[in-house]
Amino acid sequence: MSVVVKTVAEVRQQFQGARLNGKILGLVPTMGALHAGHARLIEVARGESDVVVVSIFVNPLQFGPSEDYTQYPRPLAADLELCERMGADVVFVPSSEEVYRSSQLTFVEVTRLTDHLCGKFRPGHFRGVTTVVSKLFNIVQPDRAYFGEKDFQQLAVIRRMTIDLNMPIAIVGVPTVRETDGLALSSRNRYLDEGQRKVAIGLYRALLKAQELIRSGEKDSARVRESAIALLKRDPGIRLEYFEIVDPEEVQPVKDAITGPVRIAGAVWVGNTRLIDNVSV
Ligand code: PAF
Repeated sequence: MSVVVKTVAEVRQQFQGARLNGKILGLVPTMGALHAGHARLIEVARGESDVVVVSIFVNPLQFGPSEDYTQYPRPLAADLELCERMGADVVFVPSSEEVYRSSQLTFVEVTRLTDHLCGKFRPGHFRGVTTVVSKLFNIVQPDRAYFGEKDFQQLAVIRRMTIDLNMPIAIVGVPTVRETDGLALSSRNRYLDEGQRKVAIGLYRALLKAQELIRSGEKDSARVRESAIALLKRDPGIRLEYFEIVDPEEVQPVKDAITGPVRIAGAVWVGNTRLIDNVSV
């Protein structure tokens, strides 16, 4: 039975004993609207940790003024059921007032890695993510924390934050879970109507096209990018935000020849829904 806690004080109380007994604490930070991708994160955490805590908190700090903070789905009962089913020990569901008790004057910011991709198009987004993740790390003090590779830039940024700030937490990336046609699972997929759902797969197709070109020996990153974008643009239902080939560690666009491992990442709009996805080569 998962224990649901709402306050920082209760979290500290829950974990005091576990920590003293040398138990491994695994944290799965989420914004709720949980799907099979989150279930997989909890499953991996369950396999590696003695105590698994899932946090559910829609973090206002990481949404821009014109973004979907108020609309973001909050199906709490279904989320708690999924946590229970996946064997989470504790679910931390704080209110916004609990997390941001005072007006927040301290922020955590990772530079450079946030210059491109989502960082470029969502100013302040990663500062909101790294600030709240730091707070969650300080509240829960986990040994390990689990993040999906679908948010590849977020994962790279959080990894770098823990290294740069000497946080004693292992960051575990978990591969993206996909629908049978390949669409990456996302809480925002539930905004798509039937027609948009069909169109949404175009991003993954373009990513696969780029991946295939590189695998078959194309080294010119501009050429790969152009071919993939041309494929994407064939579908009038998709509006491209970015499509980049970047180095996996510092998330910088590869301008010249592709000589080592890269990540191909894209963001598109389908109607009013923004979708992101990535693949590695
Ligand atoms: O990936 C998410 O759901 C969020 O960005 C996170 C990591 C829970 C921080 O709010």
